[in-house]
Amino acid sequence: MNNKIIIDGGNRLQGTIKASGAKNAVLPILAATIVGQGESHISHVPHLHDVTTMNELLAQMGAHITIGDHADIMVNPDNIIDPVAPYETVKTMRASILALGPLVARHGYAKVSLPGGCQIGARPIDLHIKGLQTMGAQITVEDGYILARAKRLKGSRIIMDKVTVTGTENLLIAACLAEGETLIENAAIEPEVVDLAKYLSAMGAEIRGAGTSKIYIQGKETLIGTQHTVMPDRIEIGTFLVAAAITQGDITITEACSDDLDAVLSKLTDAGAAITIDGSTIRLQMNQKPIPVDIYTAPHPAFPTDMQAQFCALNAIADGTSVITENLFENRFMHVDELNRMGAHINVEGNRAIIKGVDHLSGAPVTATDLRASASLVIAGLAARGHTDVHDIHYIDRGYEAIEEKLNQLGAKIIRS
Ligand code: UD1
Repeated sequence: MNNKIIIDGGNRLQGTIKASGAKNAVLPILAATIVGQGESHISHVPHLHDVTTMNELLAQMGAHITIGDHADIMVNPDNIIDPVAPYETVKTMRASILALGPLVARHGYAKVSLPGGCQIGARPIDLHIKGLQTMGAQITVEDGYILARAKRLKGSRIIMDKVTVTGTENLLIAACLAEGETLIENAAIEPEVVDLAKYLSAMGAEIRGAGTSKIYIQGKETLIGTQHTVMPDRIEIGTFLVAAAITQGDITITEACSDDLDAVLSKLTDAGAAITIDGSTIRLQMNQKPIPVDIYTAPHPAFPTDMQAQFCALNAIADGTSVITENLFENRFMHVDELNRMGAHINVEGNRAIIKGVDHLSGAPVTATDLRASASLVIAGLAARGHTDVHDIHYIDRGYEAIEEKLNQLGAKIIRS
């Protein structure tokens, strides 16, 4: 298996690429196909490992999946007979939990494995469960599985104790088939929640307030499968922009979504980049060593945790010291030790990384530990002097479509072996 990327560092990124569809939008949307009668046609689907896993999960349950020629997936969920998400699937992809709400809402029963520990911290799902219980589901945990039962969910007022993205999505989908009105308070306002709401609305759901912290859903008896085009991936776009910035490059990304990237674009500007936006096109030009930028991760519209590791790499060669504070997940600094092996000077104290910029990074063998950590190591390798081998690179395929093709298109020297 080709599980290593070899990067010959020091090449300036230049050129144009297209943004792919968003991983964190397509996963809840594929899960939501369960609540529609008949086929849904989902377009602009990124070719990612997590998407394959979600398709396999739906197919195992009995859904009929057709993969089209142009990043299209057709899902017909009408034949689902086995509403179960097994441990083997959930352990490789936590987002499998997104099947829980749709299954219990449409089939009255769901059996979903508990996700268990995750590399980037505990990541509980108590709020998904509490929300469904508020809607009347009977939930028990047996032999490592969540069993949820409900004749029909009941519209309810749900106050989320904490902002959770997939938690909001799970409950939003379920509420679309509940009896009466549901209000989700302290809902996640991430753009991916809005994209999901657009798809559900196109199926006939009645949703108000998606993209704000109060979402109102008027439940329907049935929803009908429909067509939907997935929004661009703001984290993929942000990752390529940081890669361009660290190599003092000049890249343009088309079919992008600049509005969803305000916090990231503002930090890139602070770091010394010139950003030009023209409709759905974003250009980044960088002509200097990065200026250090402090980062504080928080739910949207603040700086996303999924871009934190990439900025660690950028700050590692900045002209001065910076502090990155991670507020969403514990243990999300596993890339730091690897960056230090490349000559970075980063100390982790609790949930803060203190980064003293160094003159340059040096290529080294390093190991990826999760999706965004792998992106951070690739970015560091692009700027480093010499060769960097990033081992366990399979993590990157969970969230980045054709990453080495896109980077090579921009002038990087990167191969898989
Ligand atoms: C989603 C994204 C992930 C991103 C994260 C934060 C998907 C498929 N994944 O993950 O890429 O990093 O949002 O933007 O969209 N929490 C609880 N109880 C719960 C649920 C969450 O305490 O029931 C806590 C978590 O431990 C964490 C915080 O809430 O501290 C936010 O997590 P959450 O928004 O749920 O992350 P995910 O939806 O798993």
